[in-house]
Amino acid sequence: MHFSNNHTIEKLNKKYHSVLSELYEASEIDAIFFICLETYANLSRLDLQMNFSICLTEPQLIYLDDVLYELSTGRPLQYIIGKVTFMDLFFDVNKHTLIPRPETEELVDLILENYTSTKSSISVLDIGTGSGCIPISLKYYEKNWNVTSIDVSEKAIEMAKLNAVKNAVEVNFICEDILVLDTLDKKYDLIVSNPPYIIEDEKKDMANNVLSYEPHLALFVDNSTPLLFYKKILELAINGLAENGIIYFEINPLFVIELNALTAQLGFSSCEIINDMSGKERFARVTR
Ligand SMILES: C[S@@+](CC[C@H](N)C(=O)[O-])C[C@H]1O[C@@H](n2cnc3c(N)ncnc32)[C@H](O)[C@@H]1O
Repeated sequence: MHFSNNHTIEKLNKKYHSVLSELYEASEIDAIFFICLETYANLSRLDLQMNFSICLTEPQLIYLDDVLYELSTGRPLQYIIGKVTFMDLFFDVNKHTLIPRPETEELVDLILENYTSTKSSISVLDIGTGSGCIPISLKYYEKNWNVTSIDVSEKAIEMAKLNAVKNAVEVNFICEDILVLDTLDKKYDLIVSNPPYIIEDEKKDMANNVLSYEPHLALFVDNSTPLLFYKKILELAINGLAENGIIYFEINPLFVIELNALTAQLGFSSCEIINDMSGKERFARVTR
């Protein structure tokens, strides 16, 4: 760390605010700034609280300027640094994998809470692997479970496999298009999915950093088929879900009524809708 007066963190913080103010809220800019300092200058929040006038070295400054430039183009921080935390675990991400969202952590929490008293081994199928955040964290916190995860994207599966190694868990990853499957390979006790569920019409209200950088394969479905993945997964679950099995979905709040109708039409007796922390109808728990 240098203590010349030129490159103080305070100055750099001001620069981040002035460059990024059109893209992010002030609190988000601070959060981004602290993560950058932790990642590229090895400085913790505590270091900074104690001394905001710490100076950076020239190479650190060059790096943090480059990062600022990339951020100013709208590229999400997670893709720049190449990693995220999810359920207190580290995951690498790249342009082929969706950035795991806090709501999805809530989904994993809901599932883990549901099974707290079940200590037996269960078989789990996750559909739409992405970075592997759902299957890897389920396996990490429930070591007895047998977890399989399917994604159509080879690149996503590649990344998820690396993340499984990184977190020292074994997950059976399969590269397959769920939409062309006629049956599942066996009966699963738990099926979970955060499938693509945003309709094309919603694009106009979405932030540019999501639209330009995150994989559209992971996000969007046609306006005419908003429940495409839910329908397919529920159809496969008719024979592929164990007798007392449960399905957990992350859902689009816009199509709750249609999802309820679909589950009833396919013979499932219950479709409980659960709100996320921001009060949106975000999860469904479906049983026979
Ligand atoms: C919303 S992302 C969820 C990723 C991850 N589970 C998460 O929560 O961050 C949906 C995932 O479904 C995958 N996907 C899209 N179409 C698919 C298909 N036909 N079959 C299997 N997976 C598919 C995408 O590649 C993407 O990884």
